[in-house]
Amino acid sequence: MGGREDDFEPSALGTKEHWDAIYERGLQHFEDSGNAGEIWFGEESMSRLIGWLEKQKIPLDSCVLDIGTGNGVLLVELAKSGYTNLVGIDYSPSAIQLSKKIMEKEELPQVKLQELLMPSA
Ligand SMILES: C[S@@+](CC[C@H](N)C(=O)[O-])C[C@H]1O[C@@H](n2cnc3c(N)ncnc32)[C@H](O)[C@@H]1O
Repeated sequence: MGGREDDFEPSALGTKEHWDAIYERGLQHFEDSGNAGEIWFGEESMSRLIGWLEKQKIPLDSCVLDIGTGNGVLLVELAKSGYTNLVGIDYSPSAIQLSKKIMEKEELPQVKLQELLMPSA
């Protein structure tokens, strides 16, 4: 605690260039193999999140906004769990292209996806 702001080196994970490169490769990989790619926080975290929504009795038609949706796999799982009003945004155009292709494959045209930059705080 009490660290200074300059204690840490800036991380590539905080740059759009990093995510653009990741999802450009992901898009190519999906086209070659049909594989959706990495789930960054793991399947377990998606199950826990959906379990929490269910426990709170969040209505299935509530709007869920997934900020930094990446390949959109969380939205796929939410749709499969019955959620009907799903929106994903990401600042990487390749992530949005990939997530749209995954929704097509999963036959989930109702999931809305939009390229959008969330300004940092
Ligand atoms: C760690 S990945 C997580 C992807 C996905 N949610 C998952 O769990 O697999 C972070 C995502 O956030 C996006 N992102 C980071 N900063 C953003 C910003 N300021 N506005 C919009 N998207 C952003 C990146 O492009 C990337 O897709």
